[in-house]
Amino acid sequence: MDIRVLKPADIPHVQSTNITNLPENYFMKYYLYHALSWPQLSYVAVDVSRPKKTPYDPPKIVGYVLAKMEEEPVNGIQHGHITSLSVMRTHRRLGLAEKLMRQSQRAMVEMFGAQYVSLHVRMSNIAALRLYRDTLGFEVEKVESKYYADGEDAYSMKMNLNPLREQLEADEDYADEGEEVGDVGKKEKKKEDGEQGKTKRKVKLGRGLGVGELVERNESSKA
Ligand SMILES: CC(C)(COP(=O)(O)OP(=O)(O)OC[C@H]1O[C@@H](n2cnc3c(N)ncnc32)[C@H](O)[C@@H]1OP(=O)(O)O)[C@@H](O)C(=O)NCCC(=O)NCCS
Repeated sequence: MDIRVLKPADIPHVQSTNITNLPENYFMKYYLYHALSWPQLSYVAVDVSRPKKTPYDPPKIVGYVLAKMEEEPVNGIQHGHITSLSVMRTHRRLGLAEKLMRQSQRAMVEMFGAQYVSLHVRMSNIAALRLYRDTLGFEVEKVESKYYADGEDAYSMKMNLNPLREQLEADEDYADEGEEVGDVGKKEKKKEDGEQGKTKRKVKLGRGLGVGELVERNESSKA
């Protein structure tokens, strides 16, 4: 079994898995919108045990999680949202849904600094409720009356992602590839330069200064 990021080419197969498992279905463009806007957040479980008959065999997608970031977060707090999750009957109780959810949550934290993740679930959906509340640690935030098209109420659930962030940061094996970038990188670079006594300053350049002045100078000894 392979759990990997959802690619646009998977969408028709994910859509067919969704139609098989859930009454909440979406247009193809809605899947594409997720895949193009937040390509790191949606995952598929692919059964790779089946030998390929031709090089053009479609992947056998047996589960998926479709996820997004909230576009207009209240109070500016970044958070993710699970749009849809399902696993084919033939592949249930193997831990696939849990793995798909954890992958997506990790990407929400790492890529978008999400503070929490939210979702809706039917009040009658015992399997999903057990997964969200007991296995993953979601909490019920409120009940949304007649949320579903057939009139069923939904639990609106939330999971705090800050413990996951702390766990990732504390993890010794948390890969640190390459040099730091952005503000952190700049701070480190300044420290290094400072230690060697060659702090660089911005030098004014321009025609008015003449050609002779258009040379980078070390001004650290000035003033
Ligand atoms: C809900 C669903 C996604 C779970 O997928 P799954 O891959 O079978 O789940 P996992 O194997 O990762 O289960 C993890 C835990 O969730 C709970 N769980 C999952 N299915 C359960 C069930 N039928 N009854 C009770 N608990 C269940 C268990 O605690 C389980 O841990 P355990 O197997 O060690 O006891 C799957 O049943 C499904 O696709 N259902 C139809 C679509 C759906 O309801 N999607 C959710 C919409 S909000």
